[in-house]
Amino acid sequence: MKKRVLITGVAGFVGSNLADRLLTEGDYEVTGLDNLAYGVIEQVPEGVKFHKEDIRDSSIVSLFEGSDFVFHFAAKNCISDCQLDPVETADINVRGTVNVFEAAKKACVKKIIYAESSAIYEGSDLLPTPETENKPQSFYSISKFSTMYFAEAYKRFYNLNSTALRYFCVYGPRQDYRRTIPPVFSSFIIKILRSEQPVIFGTGEKRRDFIHVDDINDFHIKCMTDSKTDNDVFNLGSGVNYSINEIYDTIASLLEYKNKPSYKPDLPGEAFANLADISKAKSLGWSPKVDLRTGLKSSIDFIKNEMKKGNI
Ligand SMILES: NC(=O)c1ccc[n+]([C@@H]2O[C@H](COP(=O)([O-])OP(=O)(O)OC[C@H]3O[C@@H](n4cnc5c(N)ncnc54)[C@H](O)[C@@H]3O)[C@@H](O)[C@H]2O)c1
Repeated sequence: MKKRVLITGVAGFVGSNLADRLLTEGDYEVTGLDNLAYGVIEQVPEGVKFHKEDIRDSSIVSLFEGSDFVFHFAAKNCISDCQLDPVETADINVRGTVNVFEAAKKACVKKIIYAESSAIYEGSDLLPTPETENKPQSFYSISKFSTMYFAEAYKRFYNLNSTALRYFCVYGPRQDYRRTIPPVFSSFIIKILRSEQPVIFGTGEKRRDFIHVDDINDFHIKCMTDSKTDNDVFNLGSGVNYSINEIYDTIASLLEYKNKPSYKPDLPGEAFANLADISKAKSLGWSPKVDLRTGLKSSIDFIKNEMKKGNI
């Protein structure tokens, strides 16, 4: 019998990629909800039973009934937007997440797998960073980190199993390119394909641990099949970091683009470097497989295709 999976934030980057993967594997029925605040309906794969709903609405419990697993990705997640509106950040990321746990509890789902973030390490100098570290600074990271305590309490008082995932910088097809300041990959690729000069904020020497969305999907599947992931937290990164200048050079070489980027003043509040200690996830037999050049090609193909369709 097919497993029934519910995904919140299914119209976003990570949610739509997971839905695609589950439907392609064929062993899953997928229901998805999203309020389309940031996601787009065109991104939801065919075959998903889609509901335009807000995670803060108590009526979502009816969608959870009959689900085996819930993946909770819906969030307000642009750090600078969150800094501008801490109240809405807490409302969506904390109250909304608790409402998702409550719905999962009432619907007796087997397990909820939810997105935390590597941003909770933003105040730490310890690299690579293990899961035992935490130094959230921004409203976004505090909102993400606090949900872990609710997850622990739902286990303690209601025996609801969960897994927390601390993604580093996830990239790949369907990555959000519509934001005012899009993630670096999308931003560089779009500008180069349009023959506009790409922009780097700061010196370009900040280093980031990038992980392809296919690799995190491998771990998502593991969360449903391996009980050793229950009630624990895992870093999901590649365990290698690159400077933004190195990323720029790789994209420019893949697109045979010769011009230099322009440098603008740094964005405030960003950590200088991140790097995941992934030994815990690796100890369960998972490891990242997509190398940077191959992964970047998949992002480039996606963006070229979106441009052809007139979406960009
Ligand atoms: N992409 C990354 O690199 C990364 C890194 C660390 C953590 N995360 C976390 O992973 C999760 C998925 O990230 P993503 O990149 O897919 O983000 P995304 O913005 O592409 O997707 C989030 C989705 O949630 C929806 N949403 C927002 N508020 C909602 C609400 N109140 N009710 C219902 N839907 C709502 C949005 O419309 C959007 O489609 C998020 O929780 C994010 O914080 C992502």
